[in-house]
Amino acid sequence: MTDRQRLSTSPINPDQAAEFLRGRRSVDQFEPNSQDYARLRQAFEIARWAPNHHLTEPWRFYIIGPETKEAIVDLNARIVAQTKGHEAAESKRQRWQAVPGWFAINCQRAADDITAQEDYAACACAAQNIALYLHSAGLACKWTSGAVTRDPGYLPLLGADLATEYSVGLFWFGIPKRAPRSQRSESGHHAINCP
Ligand SMILES: Cc1cc2nc3c(=O)[nH]c(=O)nc-3n(C[C@H](O)[C@H](O)[C@H](O)COP(=O)(O)O)c2cc1C
Repeated sequence: MTDRQRLSTSPINPDQAAEFLRGRRSVDQFEPNSQDYARLRQAFEIARWAPNHHLTEPWRFYIIGPETKEAIVDLNARIVAQTKGHEAAESKRQRWQAVPGWFAINCQRAADDITAQEDYAACACAAQNIALYLHSAGLACKWTSGAVTRDPGYLPLLGADLATEYSVGLFWFGIPKRAPRSQRSESGHHAINCP
């Protein structure tokens, strides 16, 4: 064992880390009733270990129960009906109703622009912590920032105050029905060597 390995507290080596990180996928089809809210609560605890400038703890995690889910599915169907018509709305309603696990992350509003930007970044890190923790437990999730999360009727459904919070994302989770593929571009490293 090298000195560097001795100093590290990571339980996994870089190859395992790379495989684990690449293995997390956004999933939108789940096994019925595969939500695990006890595991989700543990994920929220892990989420708080995300980097967070000035430790503002700006995140607000919401566990969405069946009544709130129904209300969100309904609001979304009404939004889709307005833009794409009744048939599209009903098909979306059915798809969303089939999603077993639901949670949301909001960010508290900050007093200045720099803190606001850093707080959103911290919430995104927290979201990734949750996704990775769930992934380690055989669960997958999907982050949605669609129209419903920007609708003025959405936050009140969570019991959240628009004046003090905004939506970072609405999330689905459960056991994936299939392993979706995802790609990254060959040129996507964007690593620039600075002398
Ligand atoms: C901030 C943010 C918002 C997202 N919003 C949506 C969304 O509204 N709808 C959606 O289908 N996927 C959404 N996603 C998921 C991305 O589409 C997904 O991460 C991307 O397709 C890559 O797939 P992967 O996560 O499996 O690598 C969002 C992801 C992030 C980080």
